[in-house]
Amino acid sequence: EQLDATGLHVLPGAIDVHVHFREPGYTHKEDFGTGTAAAAFGGVTTVFDMPNVIPATGTAEALAAKHRLASEKAYVDYGLYGLLGEDTIAHVPDLVAGGVIGFKLYMGNTFGNIPSPTTGGMLEAFEVVAPTGKRVSLHAETASIMARREARLRAAGRKDPLAHLAARPAVVAVEAVARAAILSEWTGCRIHVLHISSAEELRPLAEAKARGVDITGETCPQYLLLGAEDYGRIGPVIRVNPPVREARNQAPLWAALASGVVDMIATDHAPHIPDEKVRDDIFTVDCGFPGVETQMPLMLTEVAAGRMSISDYVRWSAVNPAKCWGLYPRKGHLQPGADADIAIVDLARRWTIDDAKLQSRAKITPWHGRGVTGLPVHTLVRGRFVMKDRALVESARGTGRSVHTIQEMPAPRVANPDSTMTEIVRIPAASRGDAATGA
Ligand code: DOR
Ligand code: ZN
Ligand code: ZN
Repeated sequence: EQLDATGLHVLPGAIDVHVHFREPGYTHKEDFGTGTAAAAFGGVTTVFDMPNVIPATGTAEALAAKHRLASEKAYVDYGLYGLLGEDTIAHVPDLVAGGVIGFKLYMGNTFGNIPSPTTGGMLEAFEVVAPTGKRVSLHAETASIMARREARLRAAGRKDPLAHLAARPAVVAVEAVARAAILSEWTGCRIHVLHISSAEELRPLAEAKARGVDITGETCPQYLLLGAEDYGRIGPVIRVNPPVREARNQAPLWAALASGVVDMIATDHAPHIPDEKVRDDIFTVDCGFPGVETQMPLMLTEVAAGRMSISDYVRWSAVNPAKCWGLYPRKGHLQPGADADIAIVDLARRWTIDDAKLQSRAKITPWHGRGVTGLPVHTLVRGRFVMKDRALVESARGTGRSVHTIQEMPAPRVANPDSTMTEIVRIPAASRGDAATGA
């Protein structure tokens, strides 16, 4: 099949390591068909799907059922996260055997009401996952801080969108990232910090990296492009966990991408239908909004504006996610796109985001009406069209596959010789012991 791509650019398809496609349990919001169709329209060729569904993806049976659903409907490739909580620690070996891309651990409450482990439970969970080499992705917000603040704000009668931000100040995330980094260092468990939203979180992240902790991080378009002053304009639709923060956080997040402290851009694609997004009580509004379809246009707009180069974008949207999860078609090939997962984009196309036209079942985002420059025109997965000329290739339904990772044990961590912090006392490996096996 021939394609005239004159005037278009060929990019590696984006790898979005953070999506909620809601299946099973919440298919009125999304399913693997609509979610991966949205990905195809967004130039996203691989997604990692989160476990906060019904039943949560914390048992071998739930995982097998989800693999079946995804394989029947997916237009693009996918990885499935297993849920890591105090009551799923015993299931880790079965989940690894059943094919997970990694684990998700909720340090704080958000949509789905997954219970957060105690610090003791989290340490145990990391001890059990560490030898598998899988990475644990963290919803890094401390539950106990948020519960107290929300109770106080409720008592004070606050109902406005900014009350949501007040209940989750940046310290909520800073404390969680710092604590998770210590437990990762202690156990050797690889971790990934999801949805980094604040300048303040960057410090514990950078310090952990400098100590040689295998920790990676992502931020999302909403934290790079929106700010607290957008709450009034956008209304409760903007509610997301963690919250969009004061605009002063944007520049440090961009700088952290540039310096490598933050490794990648993901979306936290979290669809909810309009009824669930607009309610009188801001604390009961469902948090999150779709993102896979708008991420690439939003970011290409920033490329057009000169905020990053196109190779920066490719590094943050495809190369680094592939590296952090060991995703590559054959050992030795770390090039995303090497198995022809490709987005063919028109970098000059100006258009306006219209929620009503989204593929996602949840047609409500904070991006409605925003002008963007850049549009995926064709998307190919493993060399086959899944979206062509802005139309879905219907026959591609069910051709998406679970992605493979090459398993490697975590490398022994050595202090970064370039670090200015080598004087900091590091946890001596010998003292860590091997509590997971009782040694
Ligand atoms: O805003 C969010 N929505 N944050 C989360 O952590 C969960 C997600 C969801 O599943 O809706
Ligand atoms: Zn989260
Ligand atoms: Zn999420």
